[in-house]
Amino acid sequence: METPSLVLGCPTGRTPLELYRQLVAAHRAGKVSFSKAQLFALDEYVGLEREDPGSFASYLERHLFRHVDLPQSGRHVFDGAADPLDACAAHDAALRGGFGLLLLGIGENGHVAFNEPGESLQVATHVVKLSRETRLANAGAFGGEAMRVPLEAMTIGMGAVLAAREIVLLATGEKKRRAVETMMNGTVSTRCPASLLQLHPRVTVLTDF
Ligand code: GLP
Repeated sequence: METPSLVLGCPTGRTPLELYRQLVAAHRAGKVSFSKAQLFALDEYVGLEREDPGSFASYLERHLFRHVDLPQSGRHVFDGAADPLDACAAHDAALRGGFGLLLLGIGENGHVAFNEPGESLQVATHVVKLSRETRLANAGAFGGEAMRVPLEAMTIGMGAVLAAREIVLLATGEKKRRAVETMMNGTVSTRCPASLLQLHPRVTVLTDF
């Protein structure tokens, strides 16, 4: 309630589920209101309609949006079925003031949102080809079949990540230990996109290991 008009970046995946359960419970207990907040998805699969159960739009509806007092105008998800370049531009336009608080998860390969390791990283919201590891890691939402995980996604870029006023990164499970160690103690490198968080002045990392 301290910042009613918070612009909050919302990750998907298994890690934030408990946090979303707690936010919903806090809302039900009258401790948190989202009526003036702006909540943003960080990424989305290309080609999936918002209603597709595998989409991040439907994930955020299911686990958070529909259980709290967040108006439609505060729900910023990608339209996975739209032209991806238009959807990316629309997301950047809506997010032009930047995140007040950016919640992040981390991929086992060091990705944040869907900024995958590689030769380079991008500043703005963009389309990305998903790595094989990421499609395998996310197969759970597609009946365990990695082949069904879309090949491409849209993601906020590292510009929006580094421009966030505050970042909280959550990592749970031994499988994330190596990525978190590289993020915190490794060389800052596009090979581990999360390592760029070393350059940000206000990052909190919460882990269970
Ligand atoms: C996903 C998302 C990220 C998320 C990460 C970890 O694919 N694009 O935003 O942080 O991978 O997911 P999980 O929490 O399921 O391990």
